[in-house]
Amino acid sequence: MQRIDGKAVSLHIQQQIAFEITRRKESGLNIPHLAAILVGHDGGSETYVASKMKTCETVGMGSSLIRYPAEVSEAELIAKVRELNGLDHITGILVQMPLPKQINPHHVIMAIHPQKDVDGFHPLNTGLMMKGLPCHIPATPQGILLLLEYYKIDTEGKHCVVLGRSDIVGKPMSVLMSRSSYPGNCTVTLCHSRTKNLPEICRTADILIAAIGKPEMVTPDFVKEGAVVIDVGTTRVPDISKKSGYALKGDVAFDLVKDKCSWITPVPGGVGPMTIASLMLNTLHSASLKFESYS
Ligand code: GUN
Repeated sequence: MQRIDGKAVSLHIQQQIAFEITRRKESGLNIPHLAAILVGHDGGSETYVASKMKTCETVGMGSSLIRYPAEVSEAELIAKVRELNGLDHITGILVQMPLPKQINPHHVIMAIHPQKDVDGFHPLNTGLMMKGLPCHIPATPQGILLLLEYYKIDTEGKHCVVLGRSDIVGKPMSVLMSRSSYPGNCTVTLCHSRTKNLPEICRTADILIAAIGKPEMVTPDFVKEGAVVIDVGTTRVPDISKKSGYALKGDVAFDLVKDKCSWITPVPGGVGPMTIASLMLNTLHSASLKFESYS
């Protein structure tokens, strides 16, 4: 078993981004600036957004955190997104999900200018991604591609099983792993909560990507000998031995599964840090991204 070190790869990418930002500063070019909107006080969202803001600072990017109470209206949130669309110094906008139930996330996502949609959630970015055209790719799937690339993991002709059909991870991941370039060229099966014979299908995977949000659901009976296992799960479970009072659990029972795998990502320290590195890359590239048919 070889462990995929997402933390180390993320730091490596952050160094490259910092270098590029210094170069931009020296050349008098604009400095990327990420604006994050956080609604309410969900513990997980607070942690993720704080980490995104801190990483902006680390790499030398600008950042703004805009907070709203959980009761904010959809209209107010959309008005803020439109205001940010019009500010030239803001190169990336993200609205942290999930949003409270009075707000339709699709309405908010549709309001973000696709060029500044560094999460890659806008349908224009989704459509361009489907067609393999330049776009913002959602950060978590992109982070996984970067890990496969960094470790030179062979994907061509492999069977990739994606567990979970979320808009943020599962669906884009299945599209990206089936595209005709590296990392990709896989035969992809997308499984979800209603899939029958889940362990049996997962056991046929050369590459298993678990993004279903069920702690330690993937046990040895899901894993083929020699498989590559990528764990996207980050569920908080109570743990009195931790100062925070909780532990982060992946979708994979790491200790039970690891010896069957050729490569495996740990939780924490696997996919999580790569999501942030990819978001930084998207924000860096947003100013120079050229959509082929969008003006
Ligand atoms: N909530 C969970 N993951 C994400 C993400 O990648 N972006 C945003 N905006 N919200 C999330």
